[in-house]
Amino acid sequence: MHSHITATIGPILFLDDLDGSRMHLSALFITPAGDAPPPSLGLERDKVTPTRLTDFDHATVWRARFTLLADRTSSYTWNGDTYSVASDLTGSMRLAYISCNGEEVGDMDREGSERNAMWARLRDEHRRSPFALMLHGGDQIYADEVTQGHDLSDGWPDKSPPAPTEAALADLRRHLRHRFFDRYAAIYSAPELAWLAARVPSLMQWDDHDICDGWGSLRRSQTFSPVGQTLFSAARESCLIFQHATIDGDLPARFADLEGRHLGWGIDAPGLRILAPDLRSERTRRAIMGPGGWTMMEAEAARRASGHTLLMSSVPLLGPRLSVLETLMVAVPRMQKYEDDLRDQWQSRAHRDEWRRLLRLVRDMVEHDGNDLTSISGEIHLATRAVMDLGQGRRLNQLVASGVAHRAPPKGWARFLGALASLGEDPLSGHPIRIRPLPGKSARYIAERNYLVLERGADGWSARWDLEESGMTGSLPL
Ligand SMILES: [Fe+2]
Repeated sequence: MHSHITATIGPILFLDDLDGSRMHLSALFITPAGDAPPPSLGLERDKVTPTRLTDFDHATVWRARFTLLADRTSSYTWNGDTYSVASDLTGSMRLAYISCNGEEVGDMDREGSERNAMWARLRDEHRRSPFALMLHGGDQIYADEVTQGHDLSDGWPDKSPPAPTEAALADLRRHLRHRFFDRYAAIYSAPELAWLAARVPSLMQWDDHDICDGWGSLRRSQTFSPVGQTLFSAARESCLIFQHATIDGDLPARFADLEGRHLGWGIDAPGLRILAPDLRSERTRRAIMGPGGWTMMEAEAARRASGHTLLMSSVPLLGPRLSVLETLMVAVPRMQKYEDDLRDQWQSRAHRDEWRRLLRLVRDMVEHDGNDLTSISGEIHLATRAVMDLGQGRRLNQLVASGVAHRAPPKGWARFLGALASLGEDPLSGHPIRIRPLPGKSARYIAERNYLVLERGADGWSARWDLEESGMTGSLPL
């Protein structure tokens, strides 16, 4: 039951890397199998022909790598159309941040204009004043249902066969690979996202649903089972193809580990560093980041970077005191599933030492070069923000924008979290964390679909949330 695409999907732009004054980009295309390569991209001085990246049963994925100057607005032509790109990263600029582009159940069957209403708003916002980059903070797809329809994975994650044959696993791999394909093909053929993706280069970091719910926080017997490992490997291959326009052995220079043992990356633009550690590839029940992630973060902390750092933490770095809730859930067997959900968070008791280690690292980054740092996250399907006082007038801001397509949880949940947040949290003594309302709001959590706009103007960086019902918030200086 694989979907057959009937027309070319793309171009979908990705920022491979930034070196000095040049943007290295990839344009991704998907065509029905057997079709000729997509037309060449026309640039100011040359033409770039897409080359084959990989094949699926019914489709081929193509990629064209090219560069644009990063100190001016640019454009390219493709198939008779001209696409402008707001590629001037030197002064004023706007970035869009989105997360949670889907839902766990039935996302493929949702009515498009309802599902993509916030993408349409983002597109209109780009028309008003263009975005230089789109940052996708996790759950770019919801893969929860990919395991359905195959004997080996139908019972995932509760039941998985201990010793399937090589042939059965190869068949599962093929099944999963095509199910992942279906989901990526669906999001990239949605007209609202497609319009934007042809004009605004994307940078992505995955979270659990790009693999499966709670990946890395599951029991070892699930994660390291043959089915679990096949699922991860298919998810990872799809993520490389569709979120980074690449395959193993060909990772762009922004990745910290070109072998891809983790998919953390960093970008340096004038006065702006974007850091996106991978909180999934190396995760276990005891650790959110592994040796690769820590090596990357420590190297970044030791390096001087001028201006602002945006830290993309796919799960929120700052949050309310969840340990109270966790204790309650451990005590009630029926609440086990929710306990696993909490274990996925930095604030879980299981990760407290590691959380402190990262917060100290972030504090040191801010202290040693007077660098402002903003952490941006998705994951909770609510809009909120938090502040950690770093002393000497410096603060770590965290912005949460979550659910561009995922519908918000009940308002009661937002109120409950708001009440919990009034307790405060103090993982590093002397540096209290406070959950704060969005500009112009009184509640700490807003249960509406949303995305975030980050703007750099003459006075530095600021942020605004576009909330589905209440509209664009006032701007928050960072
Ligand atoms: Fe999500």
